[in-house]
Amino acid sequence: MRSPFERRLEACQRRLERTDAALAVLVPGPNLTYLTGFEESPSERHLLLFVPRVGDPVVVAPTMYDAQLRTLPIETLAVRLWDDDDDPLEEIEAVLAELLPAGDGDPGSSQGDDAPTILVDDRMWATFTQDLRECAPAATFDLASRVLEDLRLRKDDVELEALRRAGEIADRVSLEIRSRGTDLVGRTEAALASEIERLLAEYGGGDPAFETIVASGPNGARPHHHSGDREIERGDPIVLDFGAFVDADLEDGTGRYPGDQTRTIVVGDEPADKYDRYERVHEVVREAQRAAVEVVEPGATAGAVDRAARSVIEDAGYGDEFVHRTGHGVGLEVHEPPYIVADNDRELEPGMVFSVEPGIYLEGEFGVRIEDLVVVTEDGAERLNESPRGWETGDNVQ
Ligand code: CO
Repeated sequence: MRSPFERRLEACQRRLERTDAALAVLVPGPNLTYLTGFEESPSERHLLLFVPRVGDPVVVAPTMYDAQLRTLPIETLAVRLWDDDDDPLEEIEAVLAELLPAGDGDPGSSQGDDAPTILVDDRMWATFTQDLRECAPAATFDLASRVLEDLRLRKDDVELEALRRAGEIADRVSLEIRSRGTDLVGRTEAALASEIERLLAEYGGGDPAFETIVASGPNGARPHHHSGDREIERGDPIVLDFGAFVDADLEDGTGRYPGDQTRTIVVGDEPADKYDRYERVHEVVREAQRAAVEVVEPGATAGAVDRAARSVIEDAGYGDEFVHRTGHGVGLEVHEPPYIVADNDRELEPGMVFSVEPGIYLEGEFGVRIEDLVVVTEDGAERLNESPRGWETGDNVQ
């Protein structure tokens, strides 16, 4: 049976066939992990995966990665190694000579209409792009997202299972924090953020997927507030935005997928007097979030989802205080396409996963954001987060 990575590589090649490009070149990062299950931080050493339109993929890598690369579940992958005292460009030039359509002898030497196009990883460092230019002087270059973006947009079953699990973990932590009610009074934002991260791990999550946001009282008006030493007071609204990575269930190879959920709760029975607009604003954001999720189905555009949320907030008179897009795709990256932004005409398709997270931010007062991840299904949407979206805490949670 073919591994998920073999299936993805084949899908990548099918897409290459539909373009004018001869091959794609990927570097350590989400694209390479997606196609091979190999995860490594980008570094100055040349580690490049060549995926030709036709034929077997080739990876050129430092010898130290030999064992890791040979155990990847990709039967056709050719591993070509270079030692630290070799010139990696010699190997790269040889591989390009084999994979690029023959010109007059030199790789990529054919000119004009015949010049081969090489798609380079959008995350490739300029130094490596420059090296490829030197090794294939006549080639033209474009971005690998031309073939990989569409592929990664639609999550396969392994990815969806991981994203569901990440959603459940975030839900459990959300409910746990909420149930503590007034026990949260007197704790600092930073201490609560640490506690959230501890719980995420306890419930089976890995590293936090992004900096955990605990934004209390007026700090909630900053969408990306860094949790600090402000002590939580009774009656404070608190924006809680967090999630942990979980490992996809892959026998060999890796891939980790994030949770990303936001709730805005109030510590105590009701918001303090100074937050007199809070209940109304929370209701508006909740309605905007509901209206946006309602629009999600195959064929609807990403822009329509944004407009659905935005129009509810505009009608309530807070349009200027909704200072960001409605959402972002999630997958191997916490922010990736599709971006849920007004002018995005991309049509939604089954398997796409993104956040729906409208917010209202009142500088000097408070902020409210409510966020769930959703999957586009055959006929609508599935929320990956189901924990309560209201603001009630402690004994008041229903
Ligand atoms: Co988000």
